Amino acid sequence: MNYENIHKPVLVKEVIDYLNLKKGDVIFDGTLGGAGHTIGIIKAIAPTGKIIGVDLDSQAISTAARILAKKKLLDNVYLVNDNFVNITGILKKLKIKKVNGFLFDLGLSSMQIDGSGKGFSYIRDEKLDMRFGNNGEIDAYSIINGYSEERLKEIFYKFGEEKWSGRIVRSILNHRKIKNIETTGELSEIISKAIPAILGYQRKGHPAKRIFQALRIEVNNELENIGKSLDQSISFLEKKGRIAVISYHSLEDRIVKKKFENFSGKCVCPPDFPICRCDAEKKGNILTKKAVRPSVKEIEDNPRSKSAKLRVFEKA
Ligand SMILES: C[S@@+](CC[C@H](N)C(=O)[O-])C[C@H]1O[C@@H](n2cnc3c(N)ncnc32)[C@H](O)[C@@H]1O
Repeated sequence: MNYENIHKPVLVKEVIDYLNLKKGDVIFDGTLGGAGHTIGIIKAIAPTGKIIGVDLDSQAISTAARILAKKKLLDNVYLVNDNFVNITGILKKLKIKKVNGFLFDLGLSSMQIDGSGKGFSYIRDEKLDMRFGNNGEIDAYSIINGYSEERLKEIFYKFGEEKWSGRIVRSILNHRKIKNIETTGELSEIISKAIPAILGYQRKGHPAKRIFQALRIEVNNELENIGKSLDQSISFLEKKGRIAVISYHSLEDRIVKKKFENFSGKCVCPPDFPICRCDAEKKGNILTKKAVRPSVKEIEDNPRSKSAKLRVFEKA
């Protein structure tokens, strides 16, 4: 499979404009993928600027390296196969003290959905893995076949907002009594059968969509990583530097929105906290009052961009 033309980058022009790039800037792209955004960024910061291109998936790193080499843009890039949650360690290793912009284009690429064989898609029959990297602690197989009833229900409700979680988990447990669930195809069938047929048809999207989302989030610790990474980003950001985040579902977007509100000085503690514990302190301004969405034309050209939301924060 030719991975190089599979992933269409989302909201590229908007990201480049919002990052307010200048020649010589140092930019941290935490989600390099197929280098779609990176290429546009390099063109704006070259010849003296540098981009730190990070991805947990080694296949994404090698694909991006090939694409960038063909375009003779490799000189401006540090390629780093790591988790973007390790911002502090990555920058320390590269001896970089300040960064002009951060980009996080969250989730997974089309290359991973269609060609990684890691079981990200419910319409393919692959082994239950779902790790972006190869060294994660836990894969989807261990969760599906090893987690308790309570734990499974909790992650399906919390990370999938799946109201049929109870029925689905009971069905998974019944199957586990006979044999372990090995593939995405088996899991997808179990989920589809657990949801009453009439409701299955009425729901938006595939019946397994929410459970697969929940599993991926749990496997890769996705939600916790966003908050931790934004906290580190703000501390390494230059004055007037910007953080741009593209999210693809409401759980991610809620975290980004709240973090940016907190960075702009708003207390985001739960209403029943007697005193503020989130240390709300104004560090700058939110540049996107409402999240920026792809145009109708972009969604037509690239249906996977449909749920994208871009939010941007500028450090004072
Ligand atoms: C939506 S794709 C990025 C696509 C890229 N912006 C482009 O236009 O080609 C997301 C990428 O982020 C990577 N990724 C997801 N979570 C990560 C993490 N915590 N650390 C590093 N990379 C991560 C995935 O492996 C995937 O390649």
